[in-house]
Amino acid sequence: MPDPSPCIYLDNAATSFPKPPEVGETMLRMIREISLSPGRSAHRFSLAASRVIFEARERVADFFGCPDSSRVVFTSNVTEALNVGIFGLLQTGAHVLTTGMEHNSVMRPLRYLEKTRGVILTILPTDPTGGIDPDDIPKHLKAKTRLIIINHVSNVTGAVADLAAIGARKGGALLMVDAAQSAGVFPLDMEAFGIDFLAFTGHKGLFGPTGTGGFLLRQGLVLPPLTMGGTGSNSELEEQPQLMPDCFESGTPNTVGIGGLAAGLECIQKIGRETIRLREASLTRTLLEGLSRIQGVTVYGPIPGETRGSAVSLTMVGKSVTDLAFLLDRNFGIMARAGLHCAPAAHRSITTFPQGTLRLSPGFFNTEGDIRSVLAALEQINATR
Ligand code: ALA
Repeated sequence: MPDPSPCIYLDNAATSFPKPPEVGETMLRMIREISLSPGRSAHRFSLAASRVIFEARERVADFFGCPDSSRVVFTSNVTEALNVGIFGLLQTGAHVLTTGMEHNSVMRPLRYLEKTRGVILTILPTDPTGGIDPDDIPKHLKAKTRLIIINHVSNVTGAVADLAAIGARKGGALLMVDAAQSAGVFPLDMEAFGIDFLAFTGHKGLFGPTGTGGFLLRQGLVLPPLTMGGTGSNSELEEQPQLMPDCFESGTPNTVGIGGLAAGLECIQKIGRETIRLREASLTRTLLEGLSRIQGVTVYGPIPGETRGSAVSLTMVGKSVTDLAFLLDRNFGIMARAGLHCAPAAHRSITTFPQGTLRLSPGFFNTEGDIRSVLAALEQINATR
């Protein structure tokens, strides 16, 4: 275990930390008190596990404006969720429209399908801050455009895509949203935004543990699963059942993790999602104002005053980004992430490829004092370059 002496965690875009105490307490109670195999056996422990999963599904559906909780599918992370959607929806020769801000969880499956299924890829240009113009979408739609894939909030720059405007311009295509960085912080409503496939992770803004995530599928949309096997339902069949959500959830699920995710969501609902967003926005504003006063620091991303996520990318003249992250950790106990953040396309778009950036990403549990500390640390590092 790392030294737990005072440290400042500014890597919430990778995973949120700390988690609310209720998340760990729930998980511990579950692993101690109930068997964790839902929907298989009929004894009381298995039924208790089924209830945990059912209630989590209901909570997720309600949170994302999905009227039917059977359209919520749990996966082990957002990457798996995006892969189910991309492989399931893009058949041979289909056209897909995406942006220059996507993570490799989108770009890698798309590049693979480009080679293996002749999928045709159009990448929407971004402005230098990482933003996209929703009016560009109709200009690139084709008769065979099956899918538009949009990163809601960038893990590199914090740029926010206007989902309502994009949903209104999707024409006959399906809209898939990568909500890895936005779920739990920004408003996300399947129906209001015209989202057909919403992929989320549990361990970032939703305060759940790693190993949790999932997707929500619009009513009526059918696609094949990526994995098949035992679902605890229709066990007489040797073929995968069609039933939602079972058809996508083969194998014993991460019951403890899903219980923890539901506890995280409950905390968000108690605090208020908008309260969380405003707090993160205030911390980010303080950070950006301070960074603008450090000579030699360049910040990439939305212009000041624009709505943005809390991921702040920067470079400093005379210091590599990996050195910056190392010095922050070793000399000041400040944790940040340097490099390409698994999003080389985004770094190409904002011209920071291949060296990448130092990313500071405050979360709800950070304080203004944490932000003052990182600014002071960067000033000190800057003074010694
Ligand atoms: N994609 C995550 C990040 O940006 C892990 O750090």
